[in-house]
Amino acid sequence: MTRPVWIRHASQLATLAGGSAAPVVGKRMNELSIIEDGSVWLENGRIERVGTDAELEAVYGERVTEAEVVDATGRLVTPGLIDPHTHLVHAGTRQNEFNMRLNGATYMEIMNNGGGIHATTAATRNATHDQLYEESKRRLDLFLLHGVTTVEAKSGYGLTLADELKQLEVAKKLHELHPVDLVSTFMGAHAVPKEFKADPDAFVELVIREMIPEVARRRLAEFNDVFCERGVFTPEQSRRILEAGREYGLLPKIHADEIEPYEGAELAAAIGAVSADHLLRASDEGIKRMAEAGVIAVLLPGTAFFLMAESANGRKMIDAGVAVAISTDCNPGSSPTVSMPLIMNLGCLKMGMTPAEVLTAATINAAHAIIRAHDIGSIEPGKRADLTIFDVPDFMTLQYRYGVNHVHTVIKNGAIVVS
Ligand code: NIG
Ligand code: FE
Repeated sequence: MTRPVWIRHASQLATLAGGSAAPVVGKRMNELSIIEDGSVWLENGRIERVGTDAELEAVYGERVTEAEVVDATGRLVTPGLIDPHTHLVHAGTRQNEFNMRLNGATYMEIMNNGGGIHATTAATRNATHDQLYEESKRRLDLFLLHGVTTVEAKSGYGLTLADELKQLEVAKKLHELHPVDLVSTFMGAHAVPKEFKADPDAFVELVIREMIPEVARRRLAEFNDVFCERGVFTPEQSRRILEAGREYGLLPKIHADEIEPYEGAELAAAIGAVSADHLLRASDEGIKRMAEAGVIAVLLPGTAFFLMAESANGRKMIDAGVAVAISTDCNPGSSPTVSMPLIMNLGCLKMGMTPAEVLTAATINAAHAIIRAHDIGSIEPGKRADLTIFDVPDFMTLQYRYGVNHVHTVIKNGAIVVS
C-alpha cells in the first residue's frame, strides 16, 4: 500500500472541477476553478480532499508524518494531462519522408507512392510483439515525463487481422505494465493496404466482417476510428465501417477533413461520433452540426505544424459552441512528438485558444473524448489521483514560456512516478 500523498502550498491548483457530467463548451472553457495556496490529499489511489492549505491543515494536520508531503510552493498543479488521440504503437521512423517534404513532396504524394502509412505498416508487420512493445514503451516513458497520465492509442499499422491484433495486444500489455493508462481504439480503416489497391471495397468488407467482430470479441478496443479522406476512405465507406463497429459496441471516432474538405465533420454529426479529429478543413456547416450533435473536436495542432499546413480554427469552433480537446496525434509521419505541453503552446499560438482553454482541452475535455470524465480529467474528491506539477507559478506562464518541459512531478494512481 502506498502512503497517502499530501500536496501542499501550490501557488495555483487548477482543479477543472465541475466539468465531469458533460464536455465543457463556450466561455466555460476559460474557467479552471483555481485554488490559490492549494492543497490536495491523496489516499488509496484516489483524490480524497481538495482545498486551501488552511482547510486541509485543519483536517490532516495531525497525520502529516503519515503522508509523503510534496511541497508545491511556487508551482502549478493540474490534473494529469490526457492525450486522446495517438498512434503510439508502431515500428520505425520516417525522417526520410520529412526530408522529402522539405524538398517539395506532399504528404499524400508520398503515401500514394507507397510510403507514408504504407511504410510504417510494412515496418509494423515485420516487428515482433516484443519489438513493438519496447519501441512503444520508450515513447510512453517520454509521454509520462511530459506530464501525461492517460493516452488513447490506435491500431492501424497492421491492416491484416493478425497484425491489428498484435498492435492492440501491445497496447493492452502497456496498459497493464506501464504507469500511464492506455485506452485502445481499433483503426483497421487507416489506409487501404497495397494488396487491396485494386479493390478497396473488399478491404472495407474485411474490416467490417472479420476485423471488427474479432477485435470486439477479444475486448481489445473501446473505439473504432477511420481515416475519412479523399483517396483513402470515402464518407460512405467510413459511415459503414463506423456503424458496423457500433453494432459490436465500438464507439465511433473519425479522422475528418484533415487534408481536404470532405464533409467529415458533417458525417461525425450525422452518426453521433464521440469525436471528430483533425478538422483542419472542416466547413462552417460541419462545425455547426458538430456543436448541435455534441461531437467533441479533437484538434491536433502539432500535425498542422509538422505538415506545414494551416491549423484547425479552434477559436471559431469554441465560439460556435463545440467542445474542444487537443492531442499530439503522436505518429511517425505527420506528428512525431510526445509533448502535450508543446501541443498546448501550439493551441495558443496557432489556433487562437487562450491559456485556460488549452488546459481545459488537455484535461477534462480530453477525458470526455475517451469517455473517462467520470474518473479522470479534474482534481475532485473520488477521482483517480493523477496529477501533474509544473515548475511555473501559474497556468499563463506554462504557455508563455513555450517550448520547455516544465514538468516537475507526476503522480499516477496516488504514487509519485516522476520527480
Ligand atoms: O492522424 N491521418 C492519418 N493518420 C495519421 C498519420 C499517420 C501516418 O502518417 O503514419 C494522422 O495524421
Ligand atoms: Fe491520427
